[in-house]
Amino acid sequence: MNEPKTLLLTGASRGIGHATVKHFNAAGWRVFTASRHDWVAECPWAEGLLNHIHLDLEDIDSVERNLPLIREKLGGKLHALVNNAGISPKGPEGQRMGVLESDYATWLKVFNVNLFSTALLARGLFDELKAAQGTIINVTSIAGSRVHPFAGVAYASSKAALAALTREMAYDFGRHGVRVNAIAPGEIDTSILSSGTELIVERDIPMHRLGKPEEVASLIHFLCTSGASYVNGAEIHVNGGQHV
Ligand SMILES: NC(=O)c1ccc[n+]([C@@H]2O[C@H](COP(=O)([O-])OP(=O)(O)OC[C@H]3O[C@@H](n4cnc5c(N)ncnc54)[C@H](OP(=O)(O)O)[C@@H]3O)[C@@H](O)[C@H]2O)c1
Repeated sequence: MNEPKTLLLTGASRGIGHATVKHFNAAGWRVFTASRHDWVAECPWAEGLLNHIHLDLEDIDSVERNLPLIREKLGGKLHALVNNAGISPKGPEGQRMGVLESDYATWLKVFNVNLFSTALLARGLFDELKAAQGTIINVTSIAGSRVHPFAGVAYASSKAALAALTREMAYDFGRHGVRVNAIAPGEIDTSILSSGTELIVERDIPMHRLGKPEEVASLIHFLCTSGASYVNGAEIHVNGGQHV
């Protein structure tokens, strides 16, 4: 029997990350997860608790500190690293936080979670990725390439930077057989959405509906399979046509 492939995904406790780990588990992968909350009971596969790493990506030193534990759990090979965890701070009434509303603490928190931790995890797990000829998927956003009515300036800038990091890592790692791609969701039905999203759905999305977390999960999974073996350095829209 073939050895199962191994996934490490950040931010698995809900939303897109939760749907993605369920998808990979159903496809027979060994799933490792990392986020602040403990393992959730709705994902009751046997090894879930054991393979969960309690990690706060905002605390950037803890990412470095946890790397030996993560590497030990993985046991030498990592076929897919999905950098999915992300935060999008809003104002007190849920409004977009522009430059005038964003202090240094906000910038730092957002960049630690959405960008810096991604680069550090990729660096720290490079040997395992190379050993498996694995792949990295970074979850960016439509807000990385255009002003969005609810996404703040720190969030949007971090996602634009994550798209650039994807390109740079695709260049650095491609020669070692490790592919690096991004997927850029539009409006997916998770807790990150703001009230008022209905307007965007009607006005800006040709398909006139929200995306489902499972529709993002299946794209992430495809990019981690041999069907995508020559895709490297891409950022793929998954937004029902919102970008047109
Ligand atoms: N939903 C959308 O419409 C949409 C659109 C564009 C892009 N995205 C991107 O898609 C990704 C997933 O978003 P989502 O909609 O599924 O959001 P979500 O439901 O809010 O889930 C976010 C995940 O990130 C984790 N997380 C947050 N802060 C963390 C931290 N400091 N350390 C570790 N994990 C942390 C959370 O886990 P814990 O709370 O347990 O730590 C949670 O599992 C994000 O990168 C987001 O920017 C989403």
